[in-house]
This record gives sequence, structure tokens and C-alpha cells, in this order.
Amino acid sequence: MGRVWIIALVTPWSFGQDPTFYRDIVPILQDRCQECHRPGESGPMPLVTYPQVRPWAKAIRDAVASRKMPPWFADPCCGKFSNDRSLTRAQIDTFTKWVDAKAPMGDRADAPAPRIWPEGWNLATRDAVFSTPGFKVPAKGAVEYQYFAVPTGFKQDRWVRSVEVKPGARAVVHHVVVYIREPGSTWTRGPTKADILEVWAPGTAVETWPEGMAKLIPAGSDLVFEIHYTPTGKPAVDRTSVAVEFAKSPPAKRVLTLQMGNDRFTIPPGDRNYRVSVGGTLPNDAVLLGLFPHMHLRGKAFEFDRIRQDGQPDVLLRVSKYDFYWQLSYKLAMPLPLKKGTRLEWIGWFDNSPNNPRNPDPAAEVRYGQQSWEEMMIGFFDVAVDASVDKFKFFIR
Ligand code: HEC
Repeated sequence: MGRVWIIALVTPWSFGQDPTFYRDIVPILQDRCQECHRPGESGPMPLVTYPQVRPWAKAIRDAVASRKMPPWFADPCCGKFSNDRSLTRAQIDTFTKWVDAKAPMGDRADAPAPRIWPEGWNLATRDAVFSTPGFKVPAKGAVEYQYFAVPTGFKQDRWVRSVEVKPGARAVVHHVVVYIREPGSTWTRGPTKADILEVWAPGTAVETWPEGMAKLIPAGSDLVFEIHYTPTGKPAVDRTSVAVEFAKSPPAKRVLTLQMGNDRFTIPPGDRNYRVSVGGTLPNDAVLLGLFPHMHLRGKAFEFDRIRQDGQPDVLLRVSKYDFYWQLSYKLAMPLPLKKGTRLEWIGWFDNSPNNPRNPDPAAEVRYGQQSWEEMMIGFFDVAVDASVDKFKFFIR
């Protein structure tokens, strides 16, 4: 008798409360997961239909509760970012309740319309697409950075409002930097002061600059792809592509991707918290749009600071747990106007101790270098300047 009572009391209440797949889970998957978890993208399994999602229910609950998924590393202390894909507490609770209730399917009629994704790309309007020639990545060994110059064939200046980089053989493409090599320039290897069209690393999404802001590809420019390949044990052939969408009209502001980095450090063996910083002064008025920290396997944390008049740092972005395998860009929700003369400082921390499970060699003294067992400390940042400002370059090494 007692048992009947319990069921009668508890079931109708809890049944009404349980989230269902179609009503509560699908909207979150569409909004926060399918960008990567759909066929052809980086996520190891699609999270679209119920049969696809159901076997992963527990793994999903754990991955979202620990904030391993979706990948996002900005410390909530500082800054607001328009591409913040982290889940709200309520969304995480929805996953937990749903899985704890044995992942009910619910009524298909409650589901939103399936999200339509462009085939093969996330950028819907692709006015021009450029690809590298095929490159054979060996099964083993270190591969030097590869540079591929691809002519744009542009007869007129082009303003680009959106861009997407798409690696061909994703597993071996560690990162890509697409430079804009202006006509008359003939360099074939970095480092260079050329403007950057886009930096791609796992987790990079379509880039769209705010209204009235765009990137300039001058007539006759070439795109130079700098690609770092990391062999995986199997040979592969990669053709990486970049797609651009043109601005409808010339913008008021030109977007430049700048970098400020330090290449003169020596990280002592075993050091668990080695600090490397770099600073510079803005040579012109500029509107700060986005930030992108870059370090290698010993990278531990990264911070972008604006130094106030009183000398105190204003933290623009703090990545407390830097993850080499997820290098993300962080777009400011509110573009930040900065005056000429503003002091900027970037700080990176490195863990060269045996406690760092990714450390290739805790006994090594580590300096700047392109390979993953060497280190880098670079903060890329996007700024918008008056479209008439020409050679606004800000590259401190
Ligand atoms: C930016 C791309 C991206 C987004 C967005 C993303 N994932 Fe992932 N996810 C991946 C990749 C790549 C992996 C495999 C590598 C890894 O585990 O880090 C993965 C792995 C997973 C795993 C397996 C984890 C494990 O422990 O093995 C689960 C579960 C998962 N994702 C769920 C989700 C859910 C749920 C969302 C949305 C709330 C989401 N992911 C959003 C790219 C993404």
C-alpha cells in the first residue's frame, strides 16, 4: 500500500518537471553544440537526432557539468564576449535533470525546427574561396611550418566582413594563419608584419566583424597560408581553404589583426609558474574588437591588460586554464575604444614542471620556437581603425 502511495504522490509531479529531449535538449544542442557536433565537423560524434544523442547522455551530462564542453576558457571575472558559448547554470541543470530522469525523448511536436547548417561550411555566403595545393603530411616526425602563397586575382580592393578557414585534413592541421601579402611584397616565410586575414586553431568559428567594420584585401594581393602540421602516425593529404564574404559597401573602419609577443624568454627546467610579459603603447586611436592568446604545451594561463592612468591593470581577458588543444579567440561584446598612447600589457604563465601532463620535457630549458616542444608567447588582437589610416602596424617582439 505504502508503495502505491509514494508512486501516486511523486510520479505526476516529477513527470511534469522532467526535461525532454525534444522540448528542452534540442534547443541547447542547436545553439551550443551542433556547430561542432554534426557530420563533417570537429566533434567526434553528431548530436542532432535522438538516436545519436541517447548513447552519449551520461558523457554529455559529465562533460557539461565539468565545463569541459562546450570549450570556453575566459574567466568569468573579466570581460564579456559575444562568442561566449559557455552554458548557463540553468542549461547545465537541464542536462543533469534530463539524464538523471533516464533521458526521456518527449513529444517530437515540442521540438524546434531542425537547424539548417550550410553544407561543408558554416559561412553561408562565400563570395570567394581560396585553397592551398595538396600537401602530403608524413606519418611521423616534425614538419617545419609550411607557407603557401595563393593569388587572389582581385582586380579591385575588396572589403571582407566575414571569413572562415576550413582545414582539409583536420587531424593533422595544428593551426593556420592566413596573411594578406600586399602587391609588391614577395616574402615567403614568417615572421612578417603583413596584416592577417584570419588565425585558425581548433575551436575557431566563423569570424564576422561588427557592422561598418571590415578587413581590406588590396587589389592584386596574395594570401599566404602559414600552416603548422602535426603528424598523427598516419600519412595525410591536406588542402586548407579560406572563404570570404564581401562587405556590401566600403566600411568606416578597417580591421587589423595585430600581434604583440615576447620571444626573448628562457623558461628554467621544472619551473611551475614562469611569467613572461610584453608591453606596448598604441600608436593610434583604435577600437579593440577581440583577443587571441597563443602559447604551446607549457602554456598555463594568459592575461590581456590595459594599463590605466593610475598604473593599475584593467583585465580585458583572463584565461586561467590555458589549453593548447583549444586555442580560441575572444570577441569583445562591446568593442572598446582605446586612445593613442594607451599602454597594453600581455602576460603568459608557463608550467615547465613534471606536474604538467603535456610537458614534453621538464628537464629542458625552453626558449622561443615554432615547434610544440619549444614555446611561444603571443597575444593576437583585432582592432578597428579609421579606414583611411594606412600602415598602422603594431608589432612588438
Ligand atoms: C568548438 C567545437 C565544439 C563544441 C561547440 C562542442 N564540442 Fe563537444 N567535442 C568537441 C571535440 C573536438 C571533442 C573531442 C575532443 C575532446 O574531447 O576534447 C568533443 C567531445 C565531446 C564529448 C566527449 C567528451 C569525453 O569526455 O570524451 C562530449 C560528451 C561532448 N563533446 C559534448 C558536447 C556538448 C553537449 C556540447 C554542447 C553543449 C559540445 N560538446 C560542444 C568539439 C565541440
